[in-house]
Amino acid sequence: MKLWGGRFTKPTNELVDEYTASISFDQKLAQYDIQGSLAHVEMLAKCEIIPAKDAEEIKKGLKIVAEKIKAGEAELTEVNEDIHMNVEKLLIDEVGAVGGKLHTGRSRNDQVALDMRLYLRDSLVTLVELLTKLQEALLEQAQSNLDTILPGYTHLQRAQPVLFAHHMMAYVSMFERDIERIQDSFKRVNRSPLGAGALAGTTFPIDREYVAEKLNFDGVVENSLDAVSDRDFVVEFLSNASLSIMHLSRLSEELVQWSSAEFNFVELDDAFCTGSSMMPQKKNPDVAELVRGKSGRVYGHLIGMLTTLKGLPIAYNKDMQEDKEGMFDTVETLKGALALFAPMIATMEVKKDNMYEAVAKDFSNATDLADYLVNKDLPFREAHAVVGQVVLHCIQENIYLLDLSIADFRNFSKLIEEDIYDVLAPRAVVNARDVVGGTARNRVADQMTQADKRLSESKSWIEIHAKKVNVLK
Ligand code: ARG
Repeated sequence: MKLWGGRFTKPTNELVDEYTASISFDQKLAQYDIQGSLAHVEMLAKCEIIPAKDAEEIKKGLKIVAEKIKAGEAELTEVNEDIHMNVEKLLIDEVGAVGGKLHTGRSRNDQVALDMRLYLRDSLVTLVELLTKLQEALLEQAQSNLDTILPGYTHLQRAQPVLFAHHMMAYVSMFERDIERIQDSFKRVNRSPLGAGALAGTTFPIDREYVAEKLNFDGVVENSLDAVSDRDFVVEFLSNASLSIMHLSRLSEELVQWSSAEFNFVELDDAFCTGSSMMPQKKNPDVAELVRGKSGRVYGHLIGMLTTLKGLPIAYNKDMQEDKEGMFDTVETLKGALALFAPMIATMEVKKDNMYEAVAKDFSNATDLADYLVNKDLPFREAHAVVGQVVLHCIQENIYLLDLSIADFRNFSKLIEEDIYDVLAPRAVVNARDVVGGTARNRVADQMTQADKRLSESKSWIEIHAKKVNVLK
Protein backbone atom coordinates (compact mmCIF):
# COMPACT_ATOMS: atom_id res chain seq x y z
CA MET A 1 0.00 0.00 0.00
CA LYS A 2 1.05 3.59 -0.67
CA LEU A 3 2.15 5.74 2.25
CA TRP A 4 -0.88 7.93 1.51
CA GLY A 5 -3.17 5.06 0.43
CA GLY A 6 -5.69 5.27 3.30
CA ARG A 7 -8.45 7.19 1.54
CA PHE A 8 -8.14 5.33 -1.77
CA THR A 9 -10.18 2.35 -2.89
CA LYS A 10 -8.15 1.43 -5.97
CA PRO A 11 -4.47 1.15 -6.85
CA THR A 12 -3.02 3.97 -8.89
CA ASN A 13 -2.98 3.49 -12.64
CA GLU A 14 0.53 2.37 -13.60
CA LEU A 15 0.94 5.16 -16.11
CA VAL A 16 0.04 7.66 -13.41
CA ASP A 17 2.73 6.23 -11.16
CA GLU A 18 5.20 6.48 -13.98
CA TYR A 19 4.11 9.99 -15.00
CA THR A 20 3.97 11.59 -11.58
CA ALA A 21 7.00 9.95 -10.03
CA SER A 22 10.14 12.04 -9.58
CA ILE A 23 12.39 9.33 -8.14
CA SER A 24 14.30 8.89 -11.41
CA PHE A 25 15.77 12.36 -10.94
CA ASP A 26 15.20 13.47 -7.35
CA GLN A 27 17.29 10.58 -6.02
CA LYS A 28 20.09 13.11 -6.47
CA LEU A 29 18.68 14.69 -3.31
CA ALA A 30 18.87 11.49 -1.22
CA GLN A 31 21.74 12.45 1.07
CA TYR A 32 20.41 15.98 1.57
CA ASP A 33 16.97 14.58 2.31
CA ILE A 34 18.35 12.28 4.96
CA GLN A 35 20.44 15.06 6.47
CA GLY A 36 17.29 17.15 6.76
CA SER A 37 15.46 14.24 8.35
CA LEU A 38 18.22 13.74 10.89
CA ALA A 39 17.95 17.37 11.96
CA HIS A 40 14.15 17.16 12.00
CA VAL A 41 14.05 14.05 14.16
CA GLU A 42 16.54 15.50 16.63
CA MET A 43 14.29 18.51 16.94
CA LEU A 44 11.23 16.29 17.48
CA ALA A 45 12.98 14.62 20.40
CA LYS A 46 14.33 17.87 21.83
CA CYS A 47 10.85 19.39 21.79
CA GLU A 48 9.48 16.18 23.34
CA ILE A 49 7.21 15.59 20.41
CA ILE A 50 8.50 12.02 20.15
CA PRO A 51 10.41 10.01 22.79
CA ALA A 52 14.19 10.29 22.68
CA LYS A 53 14.65 6.54 22.26
CA ASP A 54 12.39 6.55 19.16
CA ALA A 55 14.43 9.40 17.74
CA GLU A 56 17.62 7.40 18.34
CA GLU A 57 16.22 4.41 16.49
CA ILE A 58 15.07 6.57 13.62
CA LYS A 59 18.48 8.23 13.39
CA LYS A 60 20.24 4.89 13.34
CA GLY A 61 17.85 3.68 10.66
CA LEU A 62 18.32 6.82 8.56
CA LYS A 63 22.07 6.38 8.63
CA ILE A 64 21.76 2.79 7.45
CA VAL A 65 19.41 3.92 4.67
CA ALA A 66 21.91 6.63 3.69
CA GLU A 67 24.69 4.05 3.43
CA LYS A 68 22.54 1.65 1.45
CA ILE A 69 21.52 4.34 -1.02
CA LYS A 70 25.13 5.43 -1.40
CA ALA A 71 26.21 1.85 -2.06
CA GLY A 72 23.40 1.40 -4.58
CA GLU A 73 21.89 -1.32 -2.41
CA ALA A 74 18.55 0.35 -1.73
CA GLU A 75 15.67 -0.23 -4.07
CA LEU A 76 14.15 3.09 -5.10
CA THR A 77 10.79 2.65 -6.80
CA GLU A 78 8.32 4.68 -8.80
CA VAL A 79 5.52 3.24 -6.70
CA ASN A 80 6.97 5.23 -3.83
CA GLU A 81 6.99 8.25 -6.12
CA ASP A 82 9.81 10.43 -4.88
CA ILE A 83 12.93 10.41 -2.79
CA HIS A 84 11.06 11.54 0.34
CA MET A 85 8.62 8.64 0.39
CA ASN A 86 11.23 6.15 -0.77
CA VAL A 87 13.47 7.09 2.15
CA GLU A 88 10.58 6.90 4.59
CA LYS A 89 9.59 3.50 3.24
CA LEU A 90 13.17 2.23 3.45
CA LEU A 91 13.37 3.56 7.01
CA ILE A 92 10.22 1.73 8.05
CA ASP A 93 11.55 -1.45 6.43
CA GLU A 94 14.72 -0.96 8.47
CA VAL A 95 13.38 -0.01 11.93
CA GLY A 96 9.71 -0.95 11.82
CA ALA A 97 6.66 1.09 12.74
CA VAL A 98 8.64 3.62 14.78
CA GLY A 99 10.01 4.92 11.45
CA GLY A 100 6.52 6.21 10.80
CA LYS A 101 7.11 8.88 13.45
CA LEU A 102 9.68 10.69 11.33
CA HIS A 103 7.13 12.61 9.30
CA THR A 104 5.48 14.12 12.40
CA GLY A 105 4.99 17.87 11.97
CA ARG A 106 6.44 17.83 8.48
CA SER A 107 5.15 17.65 4.93
CA ARG A 108 6.86 16.72 1.70
CA ASN A 109 6.19 20.31 0.74
CA ASP A 110 8.55 21.85 3.26
CA GLN A 111 10.83 18.82 2.96
CA VAL A 112 11.39 19.18 -0.76
CA ALA A 113 11.96 22.93 -0.45
CA LEU A 114 14.59 22.14 2.17
CA ASP A 115 16.32 19.53 0.00
CA MET A 116 16.46 21.91 -2.94
CA ARG A 117 18.12 24.56 -0.80
CA LEU A 118 20.61 22.12 0.72
CA TYR A 119 21.57 20.86 -2.72
CA LEU A 120 21.81 24.31 -4.26
CA ARG A 121 23.85 25.96 -1.53
CA ASP A 122 26.38 23.14 -1.76
CA SER A 123 26.56 23.60 -5.53
CA LEU A 124 26.94 27.37 -5.20
CA VAL A 125 30.11 26.98 -3.16
CA THR A 126 31.54 24.56 -5.72
CA LEU A 127 30.66 26.95 -8.54
CA VAL A 128 32.39 29.87 -6.82
CA GLU A 129 35.41 27.64 -6.39
CA LEU A 130 35.44 26.71 -10.09
CA LEU A 131 34.91 30.32 -11.17
CA THR A 132 37.83 31.34 -8.97
CA LYS A 133 40.04 28.70 -10.59
CA LEU A 134 39.13 30.00 -14.01
CA GLN A 135 39.96 33.53 -12.89
CA GLU A 136 43.34 32.28 -11.72
CA ALA A 137 44.03 30.74 -15.13
CA LEU A 138 43.03 33.98 -16.87
CA LEU A 139 45.14 36.01 -14.47
CA GLU A 140 48.12 33.77 -15.15
CA GLN A 141 47.75 34.29 -18.88
CA ALA A 142 47.53 38.02 -18.19
CA GLN A 143 50.76 37.86 -16.20
CA SER A 144 52.56 36.07 -19.05
CA ASN A 145 51.18 38.54 -21.57
CA LEU A 146 51.60 41.92 -19.99
CA ASP A 147 53.68 42.91 -23.03
CA THR A 148 51.66 41.12 -25.70
CA ILE A 149 49.82 43.48 -28.01
CA LEU A 150 46.92 42.45 -30.21
CA PRO A 151 44.31 44.39 -32.13
CA GLY A 152 41.25 45.29 -30.11
CA TYR A 153 38.11 44.96 -32.20
CA THR A 154 34.79 46.70 -32.51
CA HIS A 155 32.32 45.33 -35.07
CA LEU A 156 34.97 42.63 -35.45
CA GLN A 157 37.05 45.25 -37.29
CA ARG A 158 40.47 46.15 -35.96
CA ALA A 159 39.97 49.23 -33.83
CA GLN A 160 42.76 50.06 -31.37
CA PRO A 161 45.59 47.91 -30.07
CA VAL A 162 45.27 46.51 -26.54
CA LEU A 163 47.35 44.31 -24.31
CA PHE A 164 46.39 40.65 -24.34
CA ALA A 165 46.58 40.91 -20.54
CA HIS A 166 43.90 43.62 -20.74
CA HIS A 167 41.69 41.32 -22.76
CA MET A 168 42.12 38.49 -20.23
CA MET A 169 41.35 40.88 -17.38
CA ALA A 170 38.06 41.84 -19.00
CA TYR A 171 36.98 38.23 -18.48
CA VAL A 172 38.34 38.21 -14.95
CA SER A 173 36.00 41.15 -14.27
CA MET A 174 33.04 39.36 -15.85
CA PHE A 175 33.60 36.24 -13.78
CA GLU A 176 34.07 38.37 -10.70
CA ARG A 177 30.56 39.75 -11.12
CA ASP A 178 29.34 36.19 -11.56
CA ILE A 179 30.95 35.27 -8.27
CA GLU A 180 29.44 38.29 -6.52
CA ARG A 181 26.00 37.38 -7.81
CA ILE A 182 26.30 33.83 -6.53
CA GLN A 183 27.62 35.02 -3.19
CA ASP A 184 24.74 37.44 -2.83
CA SER A 185 22.17 34.80 -3.76
CA PHE A 186 23.64 32.43 -1.20
CA LYS A 187 22.05 34.54 1.56
CA ARG A 188 18.61 33.91 0.13
CA VAL A 189 19.20 30.22 -0.54
CA ASN A 190 20.59 29.58 2.90
CA ARG A 191 17.30 29.78 4.84
CA SER A 192 15.34 26.84 6.20
CA PRO A 193 11.76 26.31 5.03
CA LEU A 194 11.31 23.33 7.35
CA GLY A 195 8.47 23.72 9.81
CA ALA A 196 6.17 25.31 7.26
CA GLY A 197 4.42 21.96 7.08
CA ALA A 198 2.13 21.46 4.10
CA LEU A 199 1.44 25.19 3.96
CA ALA A 200 0.14 26.59 7.24
CA GLY A 201 2.67 25.53 9.85
CA THR A 202 2.02 22.68 12.26
CA THR A 203 0.09 21.96 15.45
CA PHE A 204 3.18 20.45 17.09
CA PRO A 205 5.39 22.65 19.28
CA ILE A 206 8.34 22.48 16.89
CA ASP A 207 11.47 24.61 17.00
CA ARG A 208 12.22 25.86 13.50
CA GLU A 209 15.31 27.81 14.50
CA TYR A 210 16.84 24.73 16.10
CA VAL A 211 16.57 22.79 12.84
CA ALA A 212 17.89 25.76 10.89
CA GLU A 213 20.89 26.00 13.17
CA LYS A 214 21.59 22.27 13.03
CA LEU A 215 21.76 22.51 9.26
CA ASN A 216 23.91 25.68 9.30
CA PHE A 217 21.22 27.85 7.80
CA ASP A 218 21.35 31.59 8.44
CA GLY A 219 17.70 31.56 9.57
CA VAL A 220 14.26 30.39 8.48
CA VAL A 221 12.00 31.37 5.62
CA GLU A 222 9.42 32.99 7.80
CA ASN A 223 5.99 32.88 6.16
CA SER A 224 4.91 29.24 5.90
CA LEU A 225 2.99 29.74 2.64
CA ASP A 226 5.99 31.44 1.11
CA ALA A 227 8.39 28.85 2.51
CA VAL A 228 6.74 25.99 0.61
CA SER A 229 5.90 27.83 -2.59
CA ASP A 230 8.97 29.99 -3.12
CA ARG A 231 11.24 28.89 -5.92
CA ASP A 232 12.69 32.36 -6.50
CA PHE A 233 16.01 30.98 -5.39
CA VAL A 234 15.95 28.46 -8.24
CA VAL A 235 15.07 31.16 -10.78
CA GLU A 236 17.77 33.40 -9.37
CA PHE A 237 20.31 30.62 -9.68
CA LEU A 238 19.26 29.84 -13.25
CA SER A 239 19.52 33.50 -14.09
CA ASN A 240 22.97 33.81 -12.55
CA ALA A 241 24.04 30.62 -14.30
CA SER A 242 22.73 32.01 -17.59
CA LEU A 243 24.99 35.01 -17.22
CA SER A 244 27.98 32.81 -16.43
CA ILE A 245 27.44 30.49 -19.37
CA MET A 246 26.89 33.55 -21.57
CA HIS A 247 30.28 34.87 -20.45
CA LEU A 248 31.83 31.47 -21.12
CA SER A 249 30.13 31.38 -24.48
CA ARG A 250 31.63 34.73 -25.48
CA LEU A 251 35.07 33.56 -24.43
CA SER A 252 34.43 30.35 -26.37
CA GLU A 253 33.63 32.32 -29.48
CA GLU A 254 36.89 34.24 -29.16
CA LEU A 255 38.86 31.02 -28.76
CA VAL A 256 37.17 29.59 -31.83
CA GLN A 257 38.06 32.69 -33.83
CA TRP A 258 41.56 33.05 -32.45
CA SER A 259 42.44 29.43 -33.12
CA SER A 260 41.32 29.62 -36.77
CA ALA A 261 43.96 29.91 -39.52
CA GLU A 262 42.43 33.29 -40.36
CA PHE A 263 43.36 34.74 -36.95
CA ASN A 264 46.05 32.30 -35.81
CA PHE A 265 46.38 34.11 -32.47
CA VAL A 266 46.30 31.11 -30.13
CA GLU A 267 46.84 27.40 -30.23
CA LEU A 268 44.70 25.38 -27.88
CA ASP A 269 46.43 22.43 -26.29
CA ASP A 270 45.91 19.09 -28.04
CA ALA A 271 44.40 17.73 -24.84
CA PHE A 272 41.49 20.15 -25.21
CA CYS A 273 40.78 19.67 -28.91
CA THR A 274 39.37 16.91 -31.04
CA GLY A 275 39.95 15.64 -34.56
CA SER A 276 37.82 14.94 -37.58
CA SER A 277 36.79 11.40 -38.54
CA MET A 278 37.36 12.28 -42.18
CA MET A 279 39.81 15.16 -42.54
CA PRO A 280 43.15 14.08 -41.09
CA GLN A 281 44.54 17.61 -40.81
CA LYS A 282 41.80 18.94 -38.55
CA LYS A 283 42.09 20.07 -34.97
CA ASN A 284 38.78 21.38 -33.74
CA PRO A 285 38.06 23.58 -30.71
CA ASP A 286 35.14 21.31 -29.74
CA VAL A 287 35.14 22.13 -26.05
CA ALA A 288 34.74 25.85 -26.70
CA GLU A 289 32.06 25.20 -29.30
CA LEU A 290 30.14 22.85 -27.05
CA VAL A 291 30.21 25.30 -24.15
CA ARG A 292 28.92 27.98 -26.52
CA GLY A 293 26.22 25.56 -27.59
CA LYS A 294 25.25 24.60 -24.06
CA SER A 295 24.32 28.17 -23.23
CA GLY A 296 21.06 27.37 -25.03
CA ARG A 297 19.97 24.68 -22.62
CA VAL A 298 20.78 26.83 -19.58
CA TYR A 299 18.71 29.75 -20.90
CA GLY A 300 16.01 27.20 -21.68
CA HIS A 301 15.91 26.04 -18.07
CA LEU A 302 15.59 29.66 -16.91
CA ILE A 303 12.65 30.39 -19.19
CA GLY A 304 11.16 26.99 -18.38
CA MET A 305 11.22 27.62 -14.64
CA LEU A 306 9.81 31.13 -14.93
CA THR A 307 7.01 29.80 -17.11
CA THR A 308 6.23 26.91 -14.78
CA LEU A 309 5.91 29.27 -11.84
CA LYS A 310 4.07 32.15 -13.41
CA GLY A 311 0.48 30.91 -13.04
CA LEU A 312 0.78 29.08 -9.74
CA PRO A 313 -1.35 30.08 -6.79
CA ILE A 314 0.37 29.69 -3.46
CA ALA A 315 1.24 27.30 -1.94
CA TYR A 316 2.64 23.98 -3.26
CA ASN A 317 1.42 22.69 -6.62
CA LYS A 318 2.63 19.55 -8.33
CA ASP A 319 3.87 21.71 -11.19
CA MET A 320 6.72 22.63 -8.89
CA GLN A 321 8.22 19.17 -9.23
CA GLU A 322 9.47 20.57 -12.55
CA ASP A 323 11.95 22.70 -10.59
CA LYS A 324 14.51 19.92 -10.32
CA GLU A 325 15.83 18.65 -13.62
CA GLY A 326 16.58 22.11 -14.97
CA MET A 327 18.41 23.05 -11.80
CA PHE A 328 20.42 19.82 -11.69
CA ASP A 329 21.26 20.04 -15.37
CA THR A 330 22.33 23.66 -15.03
CA VAL A 331 24.60 22.87 -12.09
CA GLU A 332 26.19 19.98 -14.00
CA THR A 333 26.48 21.93 -17.24
CA LEU A 334 28.14 24.89 -15.61
CA LYS A 335 30.43 22.79 -13.45
CA GLY A 336 31.50 20.81 -16.50
CA ALA A 337 32.19 23.92 -18.55
CA LEU A 338 34.16 25.65 -15.80
CA ALA A 339 36.17 22.54 -14.94
CA LEU A 340 37.34 22.34 -18.57
CA PHE A 341 37.84 26.02 -19.17
CA ALA A 342 40.39 26.65 -16.43
CA PRO A 343 42.96 24.14 -17.73
CA MET A 344 42.12 24.96 -21.36
CA ILE A 345 42.96 28.63 -20.74
CA ALA A 346 46.00 27.76 -18.64
CA THR A 347 47.52 25.57 -21.39
CA MET A 348 46.61 27.84 -24.30
CA GLU A 349 49.62 28.95 -26.36
CA VAL A 350 49.50 32.66 -27.16
CA LYS A 351 51.06 33.49 -30.51
CA LYS A 352 52.50 36.85 -29.59
CA ASP A 353 54.24 37.48 -32.92
CA ASN A 354 51.10 36.89 -34.95
CA MET A 355 49.17 39.21 -32.70
CA TYR A 356 51.81 41.91 -33.07
CA GLU A 357 51.86 41.48 -36.83
CA ALA A 358 48.10 42.04 -36.94
CA VAL A 359 48.60 45.31 -35.07
CA ALA A 360 51.52 46.50 -37.18
CA LYS A 361 49.84 45.77 -40.50
CA ASP A 362 46.86 47.91 -39.73
CA PHE A 363 45.49 51.37 -39.04
CA SER A 364 44.64 50.84 -35.41
CA ASN A 365 46.93 53.78 -34.55
CA ALA A 366 44.78 56.19 -36.56
CA THR A 367 42.99 57.56 -33.49
CA ASP A 368 46.39 58.41 -32.06
CA LEU A 369 47.25 60.51 -35.09
CA ALA A 370 43.99 62.39 -34.61
CA ASP A 371 44.66 62.81 -30.88
CA TYR A 372 48.16 64.12 -31.76
CA LEU A 373 46.59 66.86 -33.89
CA VAL A 374 44.07 67.64 -31.15
CA ASN A 375 46.97 68.13 -28.76
CA LYS A 376 48.19 70.75 -31.23
CA ASP A 377 44.86 72.51 -30.82
CA LEU A 378 43.10 71.25 -33.94
CA PRO A 379 39.40 70.56 -33.11
CA PHE A 380 38.84 66.79 -32.93
CA ARG A 381 36.31 66.78 -35.76
CA GLU A 382 38.81 68.42 -38.13
CA ALA A 383 41.58 66.11 -36.96
CA HIS A 384 39.31 63.14 -37.67
CA ALA A 385 38.77 64.37 -41.25
CA VAL A 386 42.51 64.92 -41.84
CA VAL A 387 43.39 61.44 -40.61
CA GLY A 388 40.62 59.99 -42.76
CA GLN A 389 42.39 61.49 -45.76
CA VAL A 390 45.76 60.13 -44.63
CA VAL A 391 44.31 56.62 -44.18
CA LEU A 392 42.63 56.76 -47.58
CA HIS A 393 45.93 57.77 -49.16
CA CYS A 394 47.72 54.87 -47.44
CA ILE A 395 45.09 52.37 -48.55
CA GLN A 396 45.50 53.57 -52.12
CA GLU A 397 49.28 53.23 -51.82
CA ASN A 398 49.01 49.90 -49.99
CA ILE A 399 51.06 51.15 -47.02
CA TYR A 400 50.48 51.93 -43.33
CA LEU A 401 50.78 55.15 -41.34
CA LEU A 402 54.29 54.40 -40.11
CA ASP A 403 55.45 53.92 -43.72
CA LEU A 404 54.76 57.58 -44.55
CA SER A 405 57.68 59.98 -44.71
CA ILE A 406 57.50 63.17 -42.71
CA ALA A 407 56.98 65.06 -45.97
CA ASP A 408 54.01 62.80 -46.81
CA PHE A 409 52.52 63.51 -43.39
CA ARG A 410 53.00 67.24 -43.76
CA ASN A 411 51.13 67.21 -47.05
CA PHE A 412 48.08 66.55 -44.93
CA SER A 413 48.89 68.77 -41.97
CA LYS A 414 51.74 71.08 -41.14
CA LEU A 415 51.11 70.36 -37.46
CA ILE A 416 52.76 66.95 -37.83
CA GLU A 417 56.41 66.75 -36.79
CA GLU A 418 59.17 64.13 -36.42
CA ASP A 419 57.89 62.94 -33.03
CA ILE A 420 54.87 61.39 -34.76
CA TYR A 421 56.74 58.12 -35.30
CA ASP A 422 57.16 57.60 -31.56
CA VAL A 423 53.51 58.45 -30.99
CA LEU A 424 52.23 55.95 -33.55
CA ALA A 425 54.38 52.98 -32.51
CA PRO A 426 52.09 50.18 -31.24
CA ARG A 427 53.55 50.07 -27.74
CA ALA A 428 53.26 53.84 -27.41
CA VAL A 429 49.67 53.67 -28.63
CA VAL A 430 48.86 51.12 -25.91
CA ASN A 431 50.67 52.99 -23.16
CA ALA A 432 49.03 56.27 -24.10
CA ARG A 433 45.74 54.87 -22.72
CA ASP A 434 46.93 55.73 -19.27
CA VAL A 435 43.60 56.17 -17.49
CA VAL A 436 41.94 54.06 -14.80
CA GLY A 437 41.00 50.78 -16.45
CA GLY A 438 42.81 51.68 -19.68
CA THR A 439 45.11 49.37 -21.57
CA ALA A 440 48.39 51.12 -20.62
CA ARG A 441 50.76 48.56 -19.14
CA ASN A 442 50.82 50.12 -15.67
CA ARG A 443 47.00 50.38 -15.59
CA VAL A 444 46.62 46.75 -16.56
CA ALA A 445 49.15 45.82 -13.89
CA ASP A 446 46.99 47.78 -11.40
CA GLN A 447 43.93 45.79 -12.44
CA MET A 448 45.86 42.60 -11.89
CA THR A 449 46.93 43.61 -8.40
CA GLN A 450 43.32 44.44 -7.51
CA ALA A 451 42.05 41.19 -9.01
CA ASP A 452 44.61 39.26 -7.02
CA LYS A 453 43.30 40.79 -3.79
CA ARG A 454 39.73 39.95 -4.69
CA LEU A 455 40.77 36.42 -5.52
CA SER A 456 42.02 35.93 -1.98
CA GLU A 457 38.73 37.37 -0.69
CA SER A 458 36.85 34.81 -2.77
CA LYS A 459 39.05 32.11 -1.35
CA SER A 460 38.23 33.01 2.24
CA TRP A 461 34.53 33.16 1.30
CA ILE A 462 34.85 29.66 -0.10
CA GLU A 463 36.56 28.39 3.02
CA ILE A 464 33.90 29.80 5.35
CA HIS A 465 30.99 28.67 3.22
CA ALA A 466 32.37 25.24 2.42
CA LYS A 467 32.22 24.62 6.17
CA LYS A 468 28.65 25.86 6.31
CA VAL A 469 27.39 23.52 3.62
CA ASN A 470 29.43 20.65 4.89
CA VAL A 471 26.70 19.04 7.02
CA LEU A 472 26.72 16.02 4.74
CA LYS A 473 30.34 15.06 4.85
N1 ARG B 1 8.14 15.01 -5.49
C1 ARG B 1 7.54 16.23 -5.06
C2 ARG B 1 8.27 17.39 -5.70
O1 ARG B 1 9.35 17.19 -6.10
C3 ARG B 1 7.66 16.36 -3.58
C4 ARG B 1 6.58 17.19 -2.98
C5 ARG B 1 5.28 16.55 -3.21
N2 ARG B 1 4.25 17.08 -2.40
C6 ARG B 1 2.98 16.73 -2.62
N3 ARG B 1 2.13 17.22 -1.80
N4 ARG B 1 2.63 15.98 -3.61
O2 ARG B 1 7.77 18.49 -5.81
